[in-house]
Parts: sequence; C-alpha cells; structure tokens
Amino acid sequence: MDARSSRLADGKTLEIREAVQQDAADLLEFLPRTFEETDCLIMTRQEFDQTLDQEANFLGKVAASTTQLALLAHIDSRLVGMLTFIGRDLERVRHTGEVGLIVSQDQWGRGVGRHLMLALHDWAIQNPLITKIDLRVRLSNQRAISLYERLGYEIEGWIRRAVLIDGEYDDHYWMGLKLPLD
Ligand SMILES: CC(C)(COP(=O)(O)OP(=O)(O)OC[C@H]1O[C@@H](n2cnc3c(N)ncnc32)[C@H](O)[C@@H]1OP(=O)(O)O)[C@@H](O)C(=O)NCCC(=O)NCCS
Repeated sequence: MDARSSRLADGKTLEIREAVQQDAADLLEFLPRTFEETDCLIMTRQEFDQTLDQEANFLGKVAASTTQLALLAHIDSRLVGMLTFIGRDLERVRHTGEVGLIVSQDQWGRGVGRHLMLALHDWAIQNPLITKIDLRVRLSNQRAISLYERLGYEIEGWIRRAVLIDGEYDDHYWMGLKLPLD
C-alpha cells in the first residue's frame, strides 16, 4: 500500500504507511505503553514480552504476506497508532482476517482510528484475495463499536464471558464487513 497523508481537524498531518522491520524498536516502546492505557485489549502490558528480533520478524513476515497487513500512524513523526490485519494462510480462510487496532490515549478522538481503518479498507478492496474483515470488540468499548458501525461493520455474533478482568466478565461482539462495499 502506498503511504498516505491526511489533514486532521487541528491542521496537523497524519501519515499512514505499512510497517517495516526497522519500526520494531519504536513498537517496543509504543505497544507496552498503549497496552497499559486500556483494558479493551486481550493482552496486558505485563504479558507483552516481545524481543526486538521477534518484533522485527513479525513485521517482516507480515510485510512479505499478500493477505496480512500492519499499518502505522504518525503525527509529527511520532508513532500514535497501529492497525494489524492478520489471517491464516489456509486456502479456505485466506479471504479473511482479524483486525487489531490501537491508538495512543492522548490522541483518541482525533480520527486516527478511523483513518487507519479506511486505509485497511482501501488495501483490502484492492487485494483480490480479501473479501471479509472480522474483528472482536468488548461490549463496553462504546468508542470502538461506534467507530466500526459508522464504517459499515455489522454485529455478527456475541461471545459471552469472552474476557475476565479483575474478577469481572465482559462479552465480545464479533463484527464484520463484507467486501467489496455496496
Ligand atoms: C478504539 C480506538 C482505536 C479508537 O481510536 P480513535 O483514534 O480514538 O478513533 P476515532 O477518533 O477515529 O473515532 C472514535 C469514534 O468514537 C466516538 N467517540 C468519541 N468519544 C466517545 C465516547 N466517549 N463514547 C462513544 N463514542 C465516542 C467518536 O465520535 C468517533 O466516532 P465517529 O468516527 O463516528 O465520529 C482507540 O480508542 C483505542 O486505541 N482504544 C484502546 C484499544 C481498543 O479499544 N482497540 C480496539 C479494540 S476492538
């Protein structure tokens, strides 16, 4: 995917591009910090134990794949968001993948998540193999659900007791978007 720039409401420029192996060091700072800022993801900061080599290998594998994607968002050269689209390389499920999305908390509400999702859609629409985007989201994550619904995602399933956090269960929605868009 070609890199793209978008103008945000405050006049700043948001840059979105595919991740490369050299981004591994930035991600080793960004991911644990952002994991600590939210309880909407499955992995906790304590469980994130990737080494630089492992992260670089992961990015290299995704970049070499035709059906997977890792996008980074930067504002003023600072990494502020990441989106992954990861599927399995089995013939019967190769047309689909699952989204992971995370934005630095101090940047929430500026459109970074929306622009990352729109970049994924453009990539997926141009990719002849991809016809379905899936994601899972906590029922309590209203910000994310409203973002996905505005982009056309539909609730396709409901997973009860999907997560257990501090002794409390929460459910997940399965949400999905079929491509090409109508
Ligand atoms: C969910 C997340 C990725 C959204 O990123 P973002 O950059 O804030 O997203 P945007 O600014 O593009 O859009 C946020 C949407 O939430 C809406 N919103 C803002 N505050 C809200 C609130 N308190 N309650 C509900 N919706 C809210 C905005 O109006 C916007 O919707 P719109 O595009 O229809 O106007 C980000 O909050 C995040 O990283 N959260 C923690 C990790 C996470 O939850 N990831 C998703 C897992 S499925």
